[in-house]
Amino acid sequence: MGHKKVYIYRGFERFWHWMQAILIFFLAFTGFEIHGVYSFFGFEEAVIYHNIAAYSLLILIAFAIFWHFATGEWRQYVPSAKNLMAQANYYIFGIFKNAPHPTKKTVLSKLNPLQKLAYLGLKILVIPVVVTSGLLYMFYRYPSKFGVDAINITTLKWVAIIHTAGAIALIAFVIGHIYLTTTGETILSNINAMLTGYEELEDDDENKNNTEENTELATNQPINN
Ligand code: HEM
Repeated sequence: MGHKKVYIYRGFERFWHWMQAILIFFLAFTGFEIHGVYSFFGFEEAVIYHNIAAYSLLILIAFAIFWHFATGEWRQYVPSAKNLMAQANYYIFGIFKNAPHPTKKTVLSKLNPLQKLAYLGLKILVIPVVVTSGLLYMFYRYPSKFGVDAINITTLKWVAIIHTAGAIALIAFVIGHIYLTTTGETILSNINAMLTGYEELEDDDENKNNTEENTELATNQPINN
């Protein structure tokens, strides 16, 4: 079967992906300065920048949630056990022996089963933990000030520990994620796809509608976003 350039990541998706990457890098960089690991901006400025980036991330997340539901792309993250072991086996052994990728990438199913699990975990566990603990960190004094004792926090100790642990988990994810981006058809093919939107995929029925000549998405959404 031949290969064809297929439009797989839409405009907003690419924008969201790279903005999220930049903001997470910046939040990690300023966050670990706040934590006292090194000194670059100075503590006070690091806090200001961390807050600005945190608000920017919250706005981005709000738009991304809307986009996932408006386009139906949330379905990409529904976990499935099919091929799960084969995919794990591939990353541990097959990849070093030039074995073929066990999961075929298509526009309707662009994530392999391990990616589905990892990204779902990121979206419903790691990011919410970091965001919620970050917001508690930001506003911990105010609820009790206005008499809302239900969320009265007397010490920041646990909030700080959870926020830092979440930050470390997020960084571990990013490191694994960057390594895995290099395991596509070529070292750069996955990154190129996230930059341009297009990727060389097997030329089959599911991908036919999304080729360069016919840029109508398989979900029948016109590409104007
Ligand atoms: C919406 C998301 C986030 C919010 C609202 C938030 C908020 C905060 C706040 C208010 C602080 C304390 C600043 C101070 O001491 O005055 C903090 C510290 C910190 N943040 Fe975030 N943050 C967010 C996301 C992140 C992300 C994505 C990372 C890393 C990947 C991160 C890493 C850290 C670290 C390491 C600290 C220092 C914790 C400590 O030593 O106790 N934060 N954050």
